[in-house]
Amino acid sequence: MQAGQADAGRDPGAFGDLRIAPSLLSADFGLLAEQVGEVAGAADWLHVDVMDAHFVPNLTIGPPVVASLRRHSSLFFDCHLMMTEPGRYLEAFADAGADGCTVHVEIGGTNELIAQMRSLGLHTGLALNPDTPFEAVEPYLGDVDLLLCMTVFPGFGGQSFIAEVMDTVAQVRAAVESRGLALDIEVDGGIDTDTAPVAAAAGANVLVAGSAIFGHERPWEAADAIRASVVRGPDR
Ligand code: DX5
Ligand code: ZN
Repeated sequence: MQAGQADAGRDPGAFGDLRIAPSLLSADFGLLAEQVGEVAGAADWLHVDVMDAHFVPNLTIGPPVVASLRRHSSLFFDCHLMMTEPGRYLEAFADAGADGCTVHVEIGGTNELIAQMRSLGLHTGLALNPDTPFEAVEPYLGDVDLLLCMTVFPGFGGQSFIAEVMDTVAQVRAAVESRGLALDIEVDGGIDTDTAPVAAAAGANVLVAGSAIFGHERPWEAADAIRASVVRGPDR
C-alpha cells in the first residue's frame, strides 16, 4: 500500500493528515492514464468511482480499469463502490490493485463486508449518503479505516455540496476524537476551494474532488488550490 504520498513539507489539515483525492469520474475516460499522470504530483490519493447502475443509476468502471491504471500509477487507489453487491467484487478489486475500498452502509451486510475487506488487506471504508443518519455508521467506527460522508447524493459528478452533511461530519469527528480512533474522514461531492475549507473545519481530512479538478485546464493547479484553500481558508 502507498497510503498518503504527500510531499514532505505539505501543511497538515486541522485534523491531521490532509489528503486531496481527485475523482476519476470527471476525467476523460479515453485518456485515463494521462489524466492520472497530470494529478500525480498534486494528489495524495486517486478516487475511483465504481457505479453499478443499481445502487445508483449510473454505470462506470470496474476492476479491469483499475488493473490497467495500476500499471501507470503508484498513487493510493481509493475505490468508492456505489454497488448493491460489492461483496461479489471486492476480491477482484484487491487483485486489480485497489488499495482501499469503501462500501455503502445503506446496502446492509456491513459487518460481513468489513470482515471481507480486512481479510483482503484493503484499507477499509464505509460510506453514508447525505440523508443517512450518523447513528447508522456509529457502531462501525471502531472497525473501519475510513468513513466517507457523501456531500451529494451519489451517482453523478458536478452536483452542489450539501452543507447539512457537515453536522454528520462533525459528529463523526467528535466520536473519533473522544474514542481515540485513527480514522480518515472523507467528503465527496461538490468539493472546491469554497467548500473544502468548510468540510475540513467540520472535521474531514480526505477531500475528494472531481469536476473542480478534472474540469480544470490544468488539473494539478486545481488540486493544489483546493489544498491551499484548506490551509489558508476560502478564496474570497
Ligand atoms: C459522486 C461521486 C463523486 C464525484 C464527485 O457519486 O462519488 O466522487 O465524482 O464529483 P464532484 O467533485 O464533481 O462533485
Ligand atoms: Zn466517490
